[in-house]
Amino acid sequence: MRKNIVAGNWKMNKNLQEGVAFAKDLEAALAGKTLKCDVVIGTPFIHLASVASSTKLGVAAQNCANKVSGAYTGEVSAAMIASTGAKYVILGHSERRTYYGETDALLKEKVVLALANGLTPIFCIGETKDEREKNIHFDVVKRQTVDALFNLSAEDFSKIVIAYEPVWAIGTGLTATSAQAQEMHAFIRETIADKYGKEVANNTSILYGGSANGGNAKELFACPDIDGGLIGGASLEVEKFIPVIEGF
Ligand code: 13P
Repeated sequence: MRKNIVAGNWKMNKNLQEGVAFAKDLEAALAGKTLKCDVVIGTPFIHLASVASSTKLGVAAQNCANKVSGAYTGEVSAAMIASTGAKYVILGHSERRTYYGETDALLKEKVVLALANGLTPIFCIGETKDEREKNIHFDVVKRQTVDALFNLSAEDFSKIVIAYEPVWAIGTGLTATSAQAQEMHAFIRETIADKYGKEVANNTSILYGGSANGGNAKELFACPDIDGGLIGGASLEVEKFIPVIEGF
């Protein structure tokens, strides 16, 4: 059966000391609670080794290179990420697509390298406001999924976590309604089932992201096809992140 996952994405926030302190505080605050989900923190590269060695919680990078190694100044490889103890890597976030020009073709290469290094990709897909208004949101999400992931074998695809993050909901306070999110998650699962079969589709964790917080997590996570969240703003403070985790 698929896992429930609540993953924080700090984006470009917190210095090293703040990051390590957060991880320790979160772990301490969760100790003794019965959790119904896995908890992951997505940190900047510079924090990965220190955070991974100071907590048993899952740790994610927010990006990786599309090359194995070599003369790529400023890049960080999937193998380097794995060597820190981090187990996950967020790929295809809309901020990477929009601000750094990441395409489906580039992301396809990153996914292959992440898997080859034993990392679990948390692969982000989602439409813009304009695309939803033009009623092409299903086409966009399908294209992002097919073009970057459907080259994988069923065995490799089953290691992927999907995060549906409608771009219009990210950092805007405009959460998708649980009905909108559920509708898209069911569509994504159906798309996966068409390619890899029902068993793989039913075992794929599909997270929702976009202004999710302690106030709306319970309703979102109660939907049958929503298996957790990828959380930005509400993952930056322990007191705000815990109510999201407790949405399960
Ligand atoms: P917010 O939760 O701040 O809207 O960000 C969502 C997100 O982009 C997580 O990757």
